[in-house]
Amino acid sequence: MSIKKNIVITGGSSGIGRAIALEMAKNGHAIYIVSRSENKLEKVAKEIESAGGVAYFGCGDVANPDVVDALYNDILEKMASVDVLVANAGVGYFGNLEDMEIWQFDEQMNTNVRGVFLWIRKVLPEMKQKNSGQIIVTSSNLGLKTSARTSIYSATKHAVQAMVWCLREELRETQVKAATINPGSVSTPWFDGKDVDRERMLSATDIAKAARLIIDQDKTSDIDHILLLPAKN
Ligand SMILES: NC(=O)c1ccc[n+]([C@@H]2O[C@H](COP(=O)([O-])OP(=O)(O)OC[C@H]3O[C@@H](n4cnc5c(N)ncnc54)[C@H](OP(=O)(O)O)[C@@H]3O)[C@@H](O)[C@H]2O)c1
Repeated sequence: MSIKKNIVITGGSSGIGRAIALEMAKNGHAIYIVSRSENKLEKVAKEIESAGGVAYFGCGDVANPDVVDALYNDILEKMASVDVLVANAGVGYFGNLEDMEIWQFDEQMNTNVRGVFLWIRKVLPEMKQKNSGQIIVTSSNLGLKTSARTSIYSATKHAVQAMVWCLREELRETQVKAATINPGSVSTPWFDGKDVDRERMLSATDIAKAARLIIDQDKTSDIDHILLLPAKN
């Protein structure tokens, strides 16, 4: 029987975040999901409960420090502590660099980098104090390599990759762990309305299973990153 954990998932209302929430709900864990869309959060919270978990949610922009403060206070009220943070909320805009708009740069940097920084910074003191905790950041295969037409998005994922690798060094003497998940293309609402072959993508459940591997790893193990690519067919 697994010990019940308190798990916070940003971007938990959709795609990969939702899949991780539903996967971990099977063990009866308490799961607090965050995004900007209350109606979607409500719906996923009901799915978490149906899957066997205890669900909470909070609404707001992950990149706004006042929102993060308020949500963290709500999390402590509801769950008392955080065992696992999955910093997963993210956005992506693709195209040649000279065609990227400044708002697209800002939104990607704010959500994908500042949002990850703010949430990790928020949960770390308590994790370090109890000398236990797991941070997972949804990076990308584009956090480890580069590709045309992904410049700003790749820059955000390389940034969080470096953030986590530096953090791992800072946490070396502790039992607090940090890892990234690095997927290639995943069939999620991210691709809704786009002309792409979703048959040739990973499923959100594939990523949720990787998250489970990290969350359930033994004390003797400290997974650094998990790179997942779509199967060749
Ligand atoms: N799909 C892929 O191919 C793929 C591959 C590699 C990595 N990833 C990464 O996986 C993560 C999840 O992507 P996904 O495919 O699951 O996309 P998705 O279905 O569009 O989900 C994105 C989630 O992030 C939330 N979000 C976005 N901006 C936010 C903000 N400013 N504040 C709070 N929440 C915000 C969204 O909710 P609201 O819009 O309601 O706020 C939603 O819950 C992202 O970090 C993405 O970069 C995706």
